[in-house]
Amino acid sequence: MDFQKEYDALREKVEGALSQYFGADRRGFRFDGLMEAMDYSLMAGGKRIRPVLVLEFCRSCGGDVDAALPVACGIEMLHTYSLIHDDLPCMDDDDLRRGRPTNHKVFGECTAVLAGDALQAEAFGTILRANLPADRKAACAEALADAAGVDGICGGQYMDMDSEARAMSEDEVTELQSRKTGSLLTAACRMGVLAAGGTEEQEDAAMRYGAFLGAAFQIRDDMLDELSTEAELGKPIGSDKAEGKTTFMTLYGAEKCAIIVERLTEGAKAAARELPDGAFLCELADRLAMRNR
Ligand code: IPE
Ligand code: IPE
Ligand code: MG
Ligand code: MG
Ligand code: MG
Repeated sequence: MDFQKEYDALREKVEGALSQYFGADRRGFRFDGLMEAMDYSLMAGGKRIRPVLVLEFCRSCGGDVDAALPVACGIEMLHTYSLIHDDLPCMDDDDLRRGRPTNHKVFGECTAVLAGDALQAEAFGTILRANLPADRKAACAEALADAAGVDGICGGQYMDMDSEARAMSEDEVTELQSRKTGSLLTAACRMGVLAAGGTEEQEDAAMRYGAFLGAAFQIRDDMLDELSTEAELGKPIGSDKAEGKTTFMTLYGAEKCAIIVERLTEGAKAAARELPDGAFLCELADRLAMRNR
């Protein structure tokens, strides 16, 4: 298996499909400015990890990757909404995202809020319009709703804002991170299995993989917030410290964080090995643990 070749092939599939949704050929309406703002953040070139996870889990469970493409695009739309809102002045107040000025810096706060709102709704519409059996689409949409709402991103982001006001324990930070980040990465893995019509055992392995990967991913994100450069990361350095947040970096420092990320990555790989063909997923976990952006 050539990991990079497979990752690039999946990512290109996603890029191609995403560019069809809100691009220039859909313009000519009074709300063009809103679609421009949505397209600006969606097409800014993220790593596309969540849609790649959807497609890879679908493939490894014997599903039709092309039929699952709208499910993959839907989760990337929802993720992009969460980033637009995360950067707002009332949240993390950041100026750079995916190597570009943040949405509100270019389009203003009102349009940025609406672009996020619309991307969230479009995420569900896109999934429900996929050419998949109705029960599989409904299961994917429900998994995404669970990851996006109070039990997931919104609940986690609420706790994250609270972490600026007071010190938090390891348990609290772990819960916060599993909601704000782990929930969506877990949903991506699960949605791939659901789109393929996979078994309960496969869904269970996907959820364990996603939970370990998600925890490692956010700790690595917290490390990069201190250790990377703005040019490499495409977002500001030192944002967490500036906002006074409690993260694994403030609790433990870089060395211990690296050990924790390694341990979590081993957990993800053990879950991937339960799948019929988990080699790509094992390699992905290793690469994300060492990522610099
Ligand atoms: C950033 O996610 C937000 C977190 C959950 C840490 P990514 O690191 O996947 O961001 P993009 O999609 O590549 O821009
Ligand atoms: C993840 O946390 C945010 C979301 C759930 C959208 P961060 O606030 O650390 O993400 P970055 O570092 O801004 O990408
Ligand atoms: Mg944040
Ligand atoms: Mg942020
Ligand atoms: Mg961060």
